[in-house]
Amino acid sequence: MNSPLSYCTIDTLGETLTEIFSSERVNIEEVQTVMENYKSSALDWKKYAHFDPHRYTRNLANEGNGRFNLIVLCWGEGMGSTIHSHSDSHCFMKVLDGSLRETLYQWPSESEKTKMNVIGTTDYTLDQVAYINDTKGIHRIENVSHSERAVSLHLYSPPIQTCRSFDERTSHSITCKTTFWSKFGERTPFSIPAENN
Ligand code: SIN
Repeated sequence: MNSPLSYCTIDTLGETLTEIFSSERVNIEEVQTVMENYKSSALDWKKYAHFDPHRYTRNLANEGNGRFNLIVLCWGEGMGSTIHSHSDSHCFMKVLDGSLRETLYQWPSESEKTKMNVIGTTDYTLDQVAYINDTKGIHRIENVSHSERAVSLHLYSPPIQTCRSFDERTSHSITCKTTFWSKFGERTPFSIPAENN
């Protein structure tokens, strides 16, 4: 029989994580186990899962005690992130639907203007949990399927507002702001910049 934790919802997962993150110190193995114990159920997470035809979406589900956030990411067929860093945060990624590929890259040196070096690729499937922080490298996440969508649950601690995005061919990087397509199930209000009107 499954332990009661196997039946928790994203909301009860948020409560458990709020307790864990009441301490300053992050125990990576403990958080990873708690994320693994949440078993994906579309009935539970679908209220946070919003797709956009043009890009992957980031949907805020829980802000806990301010020390972490839980975000549902929705990946249309063939969609992927930039190659990016994690602003000194812990980043956990659990697959809720479909599968996702992580390509891990070495940090380029400041002076490098060359193609970035790949350390390796890993495919994650239903309920698997990946972990990264800046000491491990920088990564790109992709839904490599051209016929299936994918959904994932990400935990960032502390929450990140910006990250660096890298060009694979030149190693050039820029600072990017992170955005939410929705917060707590509601579409985030947005405005079109005046110069585009
Ligand atoms: C993102 O948060 O937008 C990309 C996915 C990740 O780094 O885990």
